[in-house]
Amino acid sequence: MLTMSESLMENLQSIENDALQSIEQAQDLKQLNNLRVKYLGKKGPIQEAMKKMKDLSPEERKELGQVSNKVKTSIQEAVTNKQEALEKAKIEAQMAKEKIDVTLPGRKPNLGSPHVLQQVIREIEDFFIGMGYSVAEGPEVELDRFNFELLNIPKGHPARDMQDSFYITDEYLLRTQTSPVQARVMLERNGKGPIKIICPGKVYRRDDDDATHSHQFTQVEGLVIDEYITLSDLKGTLAEFARKLFGEDRKIRFRPSFFPFTEPSVEVDVTCGKCLGDGCSMCKQTGYIEILGAGMVHPNVLRMSGFDPETYQGFAFGIGPDRVAILKYGIDDIRQFYTNDLRFLKQFNEEW
Ligand code: PHE
Repeated sequence: MLTMSESLMENLQSIENDALQSIEQAQDLKQLNNLRVKYLGKKGPIQEAMKKMKDLSPEERKELGQVSNKVKTSIQEAVTNKQEALEKAKIEAQMAKEKIDVTLPGRKPNLGSPHVLQQVIREIEDFFIGMGYSVAEGPEVELDRFNFELLNIPKGHPARDMQDSFYITDEYLLRTQTSPVQARVMLERNGKGPIKIICPGKVYRRDDDDATHSHQFTQVEGLVIDEYITLSDLKGTLAEFARKLFGEDRKIRFRPSFFPFTEPSVEVDVTCGKCLGDGCSMCKQTGYIEILGAGMVHPNVLRMSGFDPETYQGFAFGIGPDRVAILKYGIDDIRQFYTNDLRFLKQFNEEW
């Protein structure tokens, strides 16, 4: 037969064993906390055992008290250790789940980029801004008066046939050229020079679309008005322009031409980029490729927009960015610029 003290001692021992085993098997912090309350709480088995101590001798009580303290400490330690282990495991599981592979390449956002024509227009603008020009803009829906009349092309003039137009009413049309912007700027200046502008923008003509024609295209008009402006100023400006845009080794030549708003008028050719002037299939053996129209501002145009042709002279030119882009990049169909095929456009991707 065990004495009371011995049986209590055994009881404490088995409580400790039970507790340690359950604590070891706890799955999470909640379970662990329940075990802590169960074994170390006021209504726990250790507390129960202690209540029975009152019938024991002081020596036995002392001994048993020490054992019960040891058991409590050991259970408390087991809880603390298990708690740390569970917390660590929880963080590790979370880290494994949320692991970021920093070596993976990033996902690139799909960025847009300026249209190839816009890039060429910017290049043209940069050149002329560097030469002291400013950029002027005007409406695409234009009055007949600015698009034609003030440019020395009165109603019924045969030159209107060169620019078959989209009329909206008798007076309004989609502008066929960017030249009306020069008329607008000249009127604004009230007969006082100097003027040094370029006017980039979209223009429209009733053409049947094919590889070399589009009913919509772009132009950059240039206008310089001052005292003592001559044809050689025009030639020097355009020669520099051609070298800048097409390459240092390029030359230009003037051919006589006709525009109602310039006199004399010229067509400007640049030496062919493929054969540099020797003649090849690209330039049809001429060694040159036409790039723009230009001339000295017609006295009638000066007068109609309030400038005295006795004091002021000027030159004007009209560059076709579509044509410049075609020559620069060897594009074989002008319609490519307007049909928005991304495979075509992406070849010219460029950061702003
Ligand atoms: N506006 C003319 C055209 O479209 C081009 C040009 C501009 C010619 C300026 C001479 C001077 O045909």
